[in-house]
Amino acid sequence: MIVVETIEELQQLINKKAGKTVGFVPTMGFLHEGHLSLVKHAIEQNDIVMMSIFVNPAQFGPGEDFESYPRDLDRDITLAEEAGVDFVFIPSVQEMYPFDGGIRILPGPQADELCGASRPGHFDGVLKVVLKLFNIVDPDRSYFGMKDAQQLAIIETFVRDFNLRTKIVRVPIVREDDGLAKSSRNVNLTPEERNQAPIIQQALIKGAELYSNGLKPVQIEKEVANFITGGSVGEIDYVKLLSYPSLQPITSETNEVILAVAVKFSKTRLIDNIIM
Ligand code: PAJ
Repeated sequence: MIVVETIEELQQLINKKAGKTVGFVPTMGFLHEGHLSLVKHAIEQNDIVMMSIFVNPAQFGPGEDFESYPRDLDRDITLAEEAGVDFVFIPSVQEMYPFDGGIRILPGPQADELCGASRPGHFDGVLKVVLKLFNIVDPDRSYFGMKDAQQLAIIETFVRDFNLRTKIVRVPIVREDDGLAKSSRNVNLTPEERNQAPIIQQALIKGAELYSNGLKPVQIEKEVANFITGGSVGEIDYVKLLSYPSLQPITSETNEVILAVAVKFSKTRLIDNIIM
């Protein structure tokens, strides 16, 4: 595996790819099996697999966890190599953002709800870094996890609306044995919170049952929120049932729906979802 820190070095490698297809896995590091599942899909479908590891300051708001976001580059490099990644791009903040010309990329209505509502500007920062990375790497296919279903939906729209060359591939959520969705942020849970956190997925499953029983969205949202607060110290940021991937209120025309939750614990905030 080749580790690259500058855009110039990376582009020299890309120029030598000689007609081979490139699968791209963008991450913020502190890798776990969710990230490695994206790599596995990328290996199956492409000649070359490129991963980026960059904790993107542009997508963290003031007072959010940019500083305390877990980092362990040595471990990440070992895990990426073992998983079969060919190139890993680990730029510095200075390399990615040497100057700010002030241009902003604004997501559309898909960013109005869920994490977009709780974290103003978050998806602007995600789209900014994702566009930069797509332009630097020029991937044939790019792999995103359904764990961040809103991010994935917004990126799919971005790629379609702006004719970006890469194809977006959706990868299912990878979970711990007890059902907690794998996340780099799980290490910032206290032992008590970690024990309670599987209640998030249990609540989503309960919500899915209520949905198939025909309960109204507001009632489902209320039940799911009560279930989580009844069994954990977590504080509800949101519980929302929306159409997917448009992320609009459900109507008779809606095909797929998402039940999405965000729960705040003492030092971290966890998200999870179920698509029905
Ligand atoms: P990060 O949180 O590191 O996640 C990188 C990718 O891994 C995302 O596509 C995410 O959805 C996926 N992922 C994380 N946990 C997963 C799980 N349990 N199962 C399946 N996939 C999972 O998402 C980001 O970084 C950033 O916003 C990024 C896209 C890199 C832009 O900075």
